Amino acid sequence: MTSEATIKATASRIGGTGHYVPEKVVTNTDLSAMVDTSDQWIRERTGIVERRIAGEGESTSDMAAEAARRALDHAGLDPQEVDLVLVATVTPDRPLPSTAIFVHRALGLRHDCAAFDLAAACAGFIYGISIGNQYICNGAARNVLVIGVELLSRVMDWSDRNTCVLFGDGAGAVVLSPSTEPHHGALLSTHLFADGTLADSLTIRAGGSQQPTNYETVQNALHFVHMDGREIFKFAVRALASASSAAIEANGVSADEVDWVVPHQANLRILDGVSKRCGVPIERFFINIDKYGNTSSASVPIALDEAVRAGLVKSGQLVLMCALGGGIAWGSAMLRW
Ligand code: UT7
Repeated sequence: MTSEATIKATASRIGGTGHYVPEKVVTNTDLSAMVDTSDQWIRERTGIVERRIAGEGESTSDMAAEAARRALDHAGLDPQEVDLVLVATVTPDRPLPSTAIFVHRALGLRHDCAAFDLAAACAGFIYGISIGNQYICNGAARNVLVIGVELLSRVMDWSDRNTCVLFGDGAGAVVLSPSTEPHHGALLSTHLFADGTLADSLTIRAGGSQQPTNYETVQNALHFVHMDGREIFKFAVRALASASSAAIEANGVSADEVDWVVPHQANLRILDGVSKRCGVPIERFFINIDKYGNTSSASVPIALDEAVRAGLVKSGQLVLMCALGGGIAWGSAMLRW
């Protein structure tokens, strides 16, 4: 990152998108052979049909670096032009160093390109673009790679039907750069929220400093994701709708003017509820939960990349992104594409 003040941008824009998902597909029917579930229950309660699971040798940073390469290629940028790498993840390669450092190494980035991780669970990508935008607008960076990546299959209890049917692995990335033509590409707003009172509703209890790994924690399966799905569900509908409405109001537009909502893909029924509350028809929600399940911080950038590359999102359109997850942390971002 440059230490000299560069020309400050009034806004940033997404100049390129990319994603990577592992090859291995695991269907609902595959899971019904492992736990007491059914294709019908999973489809009807969540909208998920299949998910991708990383191969044995594949790491979080491998997936992140591949998504980043695709985003840089899409933006027409050389890796040497990147000033900052932000990796949003709760499934890092290791506790130390950051996953961003492994991505930095894989892409061969400059020594004055800073790299760090941020943990905001499923809201991590929205938090990431908010941070990246600040660096660009204060002139400290020109090109920021923001990556959302999760390898959740390594922290799933594959005997727990309450969680293992929901999640999948993958990575999504964007390149943020200064906006030159705000009517054709600008991040218009970000709204970030958190409520620590529900910290235990979606958590991995052991393996950190509070409860270090020992024989007992392993025996009690405390290194796996634990979720109170019902509690989060109720909260998610209200919170995602109000974060989306906050973005709509802050930009002085109506729900009718939003061309696309690119939401976190946790549950189709949550998205139905959000659509009804914030007034944007569900047909304008880009949904790919059927293919990937819940990929946490990767879900919004994977969906955005798919929507952009399918030609659905057109220059000048208004795009609203929103996400919520463990913390509880949630947020929204409005873009002019
Ligand atoms: O991305 C981070 C944020 N996470 C979320 O947003 C997830 C929010 N929560 C949800 O999406 C939903 O709450 C779930 C999909 C996790 C669960 O759906 P639900 O409609 O809330 O189901 P439930 O937990 O109320 O359980 C209903 C029944 C229970 O059986 P009983 O007690 O009625 O006999 C569960 O034991 O469904 C049972 N059940 C299952 N049955 C078949 C739970 N999981 C399964 C399963 N297969 N996989």
